[in-house]
Amino acid sequence: MTDTPSGSPLRDRFSGQVAIVTGAAQGIGFATAKVLAEQGATVVVADIDAKRAESVAAAFNEQGFSSHAHAIDIADEAAVAALADETAMRYERIDILAHLAAIYPFFPYSLDDLSLSDWRRVQEVNLDATFLLARAVLPHMRRRGYGRIVNTSSISVDTVGAPGLATYTASKAGVIGFTRVLAHEAGMDGITANVVMPGLIETDHVNSMLDSPAATAAFFDQHLTRQCVKRRGQPQDIAHCVAYLASPEAGFVTGQTINVGGGYSFA
Ligand SMILES: NC(=O)c1ccc[n+]([C@@H]2O[C@H](COP(=O)([O-])OP(=O)(O)OC[C@H]3O[C@@H](n4cnc5c(N)ncnc54)[C@H](O)[C@@H]3O)[C@@H](O)[C@H]2O)c1
Repeated sequence: MTDTPSGSPLRDRFSGQVAIVTGAAQGIGFATAKVLAEQGATVVVADIDAKRAESVAAAFNEQGFSSHAHAIDIADEAAVAALADETAMRYERIDILAHLAAIYPFFPYSLDDLSLSDWRRVQEVNLDATFLLARAVLPHMRRRGYGRIVNTSSISVDTVGAPGLATYTASKAGVIGFTRVLAHEAGMDGITANVVMPGLIETDHVNSMLDSPAATAAFFDQHLTRQCVKRRGQPQDIAHCVAYLASPEAGFVTGQTINVGGGYSFA
């Protein structure tokens, strides 16, 4: 699938705008960064994987887009503040925070075996960082009276829950509650805040979680029996929803959670 076909009226959608995209070194974050760059945004490729982030930004610049890499652990409060401040200093604006980075480790099924430190690391990266990032970009968005924040939840919150995903699911439920409050507090300053809720998406990470290609195929096949759309979800499916929520035309949409899961569930 091409992301933004040449000649598309969307090519200048984000012209002159600056977007911080977390988790942009791979998977859905990468696809989102690419769509935003193709549609005219200057993109800060923010990721803990410094090497990959550098090569993504370099590839974008080679393609004629505007981008730079920023290595960061988004759970680090000072580093998040520096990300926002350095971006604003460099470009004099932050229009978009597209926050896709997260970790989703499967811990032993029994909650009895889940350590507090494992629980806390997932909350730090998935939930605490969502707060830190929003708090860091808000003053820069308020200064210009405009901003779009898109956070990421998961269909695991919306369905029946899954054994092994307790800390992940709790963190992703927290993202939804947090974003609703954020929408209230930022709305008066021209800033919207929404959540994209991906269904099962075929990323390298998802493909590598199971033991074999056959196991991966069986996992997707089983998922597809319940999906309305009978194909595997792709990173671009999420990226285009994020791009809409990040766009000027989505200015009357805020505090919402958009389920992009091919109709696996309907909330
Ligand atoms: N893939 C799916 O099926 C699926 C389903 C539901 C929700 N999601 C959500 O979508 C988002 C992207 O998922 P994905 O499959 O592309 O994940 P992924 O693992 O492929 O990519 C995550 C990216 O985040 C980065 N990252 C991890 N920890 C970080 C940290 N502490 N600081 C900075 N960067 C960090 C990684 O280096 C990586 O580049 C996540 O929020 C995930 O929870 C994915």
